[in-house]
Amino acid sequence: MDRGSTDGAARVTTRTGTDAPDTARIAVETLDTGQAVSELARLAALIAEANAAYHRDDAPIMPDAEFDALRARNAAIEARFPDLIRQDSPSHQIGAAPSEGFGKIRHARRMLSLANAFTDEDVADFTTGIRRFLGLPPEAALAFAAEPKIDGLSLSLRYEGGVLVHAATRGDGETGEDVTANARTIRDIPHQLTGAPEVLEVRGEVYMSHADFTSLNDRQSKTGARTFANPRNAAAGSLRQLDPAITAARPLRFLAYAWGEISAPLASSQTGAIARLADLGFATNPMMRRCETLDEMLATYARIEAQRANLGYDIDGVVYKLDDLALQERLGLRSTTPRWAIAHKFPAERAWTVLEGIDIQVGRTGALSPVARLRPVTVGGVVVSNATLHNEDYIAGRDSRGAPIREGRDIRVGDRVEVYRAGDVIPKIRDVDLSQRPQEAVPFVFPETCPECGSPAIREPGDSVRRCTGGLICPAQAVERLKHFVSRAAFDIEGLGTKQVESFWRDGWISAPRDIFTLEARFGPGQPRQLKNREGWGERSAQNLFASINAKRRIGLARFLFALGIRHVGETSAGMLASHYGTWSAFRDAMAEARPGSPAEADLLAIDGVGPVMARALVTAFEAEGTEIDALADMLQIEPAEARASDSPVAGKTLVFTGTLERMTRAEAKARAEALGAKVAGSVSARTDLLIAGPGAGSKAKKAAELGVEVMDEEGWLRLIGGA
Ligand code: IVH
Repeated sequence: MDRGSTDGAARVTTRTGTDAPDTARIAVETLDTGQAVSELARLAALIAEANAAYHRDDAPIMPDAEFDALRARNAAIEARFPDLIRQDSPSHQIGAAPSEGFGKIRHARRMLSLANAFTDEDVADFTTGIRRFLGLPPEAALAFAAEPKIDGLSLSLRYEGGVLVHAATRGDGETGEDVTANARTIRDIPHQLTGAPEVLEVRGEVYMSHADFTSLNDRQSKTGARTFANPRNAAAGSLRQLDPAITAARPLRFLAYAWGEISAPLASSQTGAIARLADLGFATNPMMRRCETLDEMLATYARIEAQRANLGYDIDGVVYKLDDLALQERLGLRSTTPRWAIAHKFPAERAWTVLEGIDIQVGRTGALSPVARLRPVTVGGVVVSNATLHNEDYIAGRDSRGAPIREGRDIRVGDRVEVYRAGDVIPKIRDVDLSQRPQEAVPFVFPETCPECGSPAIREPGDSVRRCTGGLICPAQAVERLKHFVSRAAFDIEGLGTKQVESFWRDGWISAPRDIFTLEARFGPGQPRQLKNREGWGERSAQNLFASINAKRRIGLARFLFALGIRHVGETSAGMLASHYGTWSAFRDAMAEARPGSPAEADLLAIDGVGPVMARALVTAFEAEGTEIDALADMLQIEPAEARASDSPVAGKTLVFTGTLERMTRAEAKARAEALGAKVAGSVSARTDLLIAGPGAGSKAKKAAELGVEVMDEEGWLRLIGGA
């Protein structure tokens, strides 16, 4: 159980032990209202005391099991007497104090997202890929559950002993926000379950029906409150209310479609597990079908799409999930998506409007991006006034290789253009109507200097993007990099968002990331100019900002690498680099040594997912900014990457597979090895720890023998990892 921060813990009024009042001994079922009130008060105080002792004083006053039992009792009483739930209820107090927003909950099992399919071929590729991964012949039967993809937000509900103990949003998939109090107000969410496994995390979608959305917006506009652009935003805004009374007044719904941690299996199939959730009292989607063939899957998609307009709530596609849970387990996960499921999206929505202007934005890596300013138009229920135009070739009507797109039609200011958007992605311009082109419209001339700093903007051969060469002297690049640095997936500094970064930057308080960590020394207590005196700031908020900056002086290696904002290094690659090198110093040394042709470069390139482009970007970034980055790193404590599954015998080892494997495909073998914390390389080198050689192994086995690398066969490998 997560015993999060207890700042603001209630004053202790009742002590644990022999002097506990009689109510402590009464079964939840037999408490009367008066007894429940005093019991909830006693539990709130006791749990707060235990939390403070545990976190603040590092001196626990009770075993974890007893603490968990108190929380479960509290939750059970709250479930019986929802009207008596206290403002300071311990159920709301996992993570930070409620006054500072929501607490955080670390998901016991990651909350995943889904890969997308846009065409029937994509779906066929998905099923073929699964057969290939599992080594099944094309004719082998494989059943899938198909169901609508609801356009809401996902929520994870944790039940312990049948009692709802907390509810968390997806967040970044690892950690979400504690919205327990709000989730309890949703009618479809049971507070108590009968016959459920001891631990059960139910996952599903919170959404709002069209009818409820319309009446909510009506009410909002009557009272002058903000209205919502679509039901999804309304659902998100309603669930993320700090005052649960507001959530309670918003008619949210919940449909269960997945699960997280479970202490006992729900069933052996996806459809069986969902039926079990329905038996336990959850709303599940009645449109779910079990499909035995690709044709059935596509027919279900067509049927669901045909009913889309009559469902009364928004859906944006169909999700297919492999029905057999044992096979799901074998397929496992990619970094953020399962291999056994895919979302087949409905085609994007489109509309025609007028292109009123083209602005050029300069991004964090200096890329000049053309943005279409549009006469506002509603596309799929959302008002769109900006869209991306990709790059100068796209505007000119050709692709990156010079071949015509839109039959070569260019796009000009004043044109009628077709906009489309699919899901959450940025709207795009699809087409242009030449018959409506104004006479005075002229071809768009893409700037060759940066509109922000005036430096030359150049295109490297083979690159479709024009980039400002000003580097950090370019204000746009500097400020965009700062915004990236503090963003959620990077340093995630509370109280330092886009607005604050821009204003500190404008006033010269922060010009590079490391200035963030000297803010307190320069503008904190005792300094001539102080943050607390700045407009919009005060004593408390200034203190909070310094505290949240200081809290981030300790940071995981992966986040740190991602935060540097090096071209081509996204969250996933940063994670891979971190787990490959383990520590900042190992990574830093490797970057210093990774000149073209060096062994360090070969090692870098051997990392799964690192290609020559990313390798070059890394080396160049450290050549140009190594000193600055080192100075930043010196101000921080960069935590080594957590070795995944470090108790496995292959964790941290580098393996190579060669020859024919008989018990599983190469892809499955590689995925399993990686899940156990091993690295899988394509070729044998001095850094290889183990070669797994099937029949027909050739030059790699020879090389391994020369280098003295340990070699084993597939059976030996399976025994080693306990999968024989
Ligand atoms: S399954 C492991 N099923 O879509 C799979 N997701 O794009 C976890 N969603 O984050 C998700 N309807 O919020 C699943 N029937 C459905 C869904 C669904 C909507 C959402 C969910 C997820 C997102 C991924």
